[in-house]
Amino acid sequence: MAENVAENNATLTVDGKDYQLPITEGTLGPSVIDVAAFQKAGYWTYDPGFMVTAPVESKITFIDGGKGELLYRGYPIDQLANNAEYLEVAYALIHGELPNAEQKTEFYKKIHSHTAVHDQLRKFFEGFRRDAHPMAIMVGVVGALSAFYHESFDVSDERHREITAIRLIAKMPTLAAMSYKYSQGEPFMYPRNDFNYAENFVYMMFATPADVNFQVNPIIAKALDKIFTLHADHEQNASTSTVRLAGSTGANPYACIAAGIAALWGPSHGGANEAVLEMLDEIGTVENVPAFMEKVKNREVKLMGFGHRVYKNFDPRAQVLKETCDEVLQALGINDPKLELAMELEKIALEDPFFIERNLYPNVDFYSGIILKAIGIPTSMFTVIFSLARTSGWISHWLEMHSESFKIGRPRQLYTGETRRDFVKVEERK
Ligand code: CMC
Repeated sequence: MAENVAENNATLTVDGKDYQLPITEGTLGPSVIDVAAFQKAGYWTYDPGFMVTAPVESKITFIDGGKGELLYRGYPIDQLANNAEYLEVAYALIHGELPNAEQKTEFYKKIHSHTAVHDQLRKFFEGFRRDAHPMAIMVGVVGALSAFYHESFDVSDERHREITAIRLIAKMPTLAAMSYKYSQGEPFMYPRNDFNYAENFVYMMFATPADVNFQVNPIIAKALDKIFTLHADHEQNASTSTVRLAGSTGANPYACIAAGIAALWGPSHGGANEAVLEMLDEIGTVENVPAFMEKVKNREVKLMGFGHRVYKNFDPRAQVLKETCDEVLQALGINDPKLELAMELEKIALEDPFFIERNLYPNVDFYSGIILKAIGIPTSMFTVIFSLARTSGWISHWLEMHSESFKIGRPRQLYTGETRRDFVKVEERK
């Protein structure tokens, strides 16, 4: 636990007996009450959805949902998104602070030397149906990396853990682009190390062997790099908690990241960016917006890309992306009716009391979906891009967990099932 333990305790009184629950202060955010004494009192705590439960102490990311503040290693997200490259941010998430020039060169060199994947991994792709969703492929192939790096991997060795982080960050764009190429029936493109991280991803996604003069549009690469940074980490969200929980058993880290990808896929989490575009398809035209909003208010559907468990005033990532969205649409001269529809939805929702009363604002996935669509990324790749970006966050949490002592994650439950004590033989059962 943190060294800065507060003097005061909370008191739990059960059946007339008092139990002291120590209160610990963090650097920022609400203090936590250590509820271990509940066990002594014969109770467990009940907190569906982990609304107030902090299962870990972490130094990586801080969110103040009320203020709309997001800090990676203490740096405000807008400063990072507007001034740093994604790989610098990944370095900071892993190592605790932004790199100096020498550290940056060294880190980039390591990443560049691990971008290729073992040629045998291609065979895993061939096992998937040609129309498989790229996220289904990602869950499989990232998990399959564990088969390539298992026997020689020693989780207690810091250097082994570090090289795992490098490999994962380096290979995710390659695997992501391969999952797209496979779904298109196009040949895989080998990574090119003369490109930067985002450029290389664009190249592997969109170039073909015939296209010898393929040029990466710098507007697209820059927008993607910013999207990567804005999605890099988000403290103990569902997928990161999944990675930590899987990691707490000592499982292979590539398998843990595959578990994170699975958790991210759902529409309440990373799948929302894809769901935003599907929703726009369903609405069709601006005239249909009022009828769709009625459905939302009747709780028949959710307005995808709106709302957040933690942010209750605005999502600071969405603020940065809204600006980027305007810049990108203007720079690329895009005038897509679907994007117009998205802007109309945003305008109506921001003025509607239903959304205002519930503090529902556009989240990062609303704008990332629009930008990714504008720059020509297929909808099925949106969540894959989120998983590529979030890998630096996931692995930072996994590294943090393994750098200190930890317990296997094992929640309790409130059992409300039957209590059948007497076994009834099959012939006597009614
Ligand atoms: N559209 C319509 N109503 C909503 C929405 C929405 N998108 N989100 C929440 N509400 C309503 C909800 O019905 C409830 O209303 P009431 O109190 O009248 O029953 C109220 O707002 C509170 O919602 P909640 O479900 O208790 O909130 P939560 O914190 O459990 O859920 C959420 C957060 C993100 C799962 C939810 O807002 C949602 O499903 N949003 C759409 C999906 C989405 O965009 N997800 C991406 C999140 S950002 C990327 C990431 O970090 O993963």
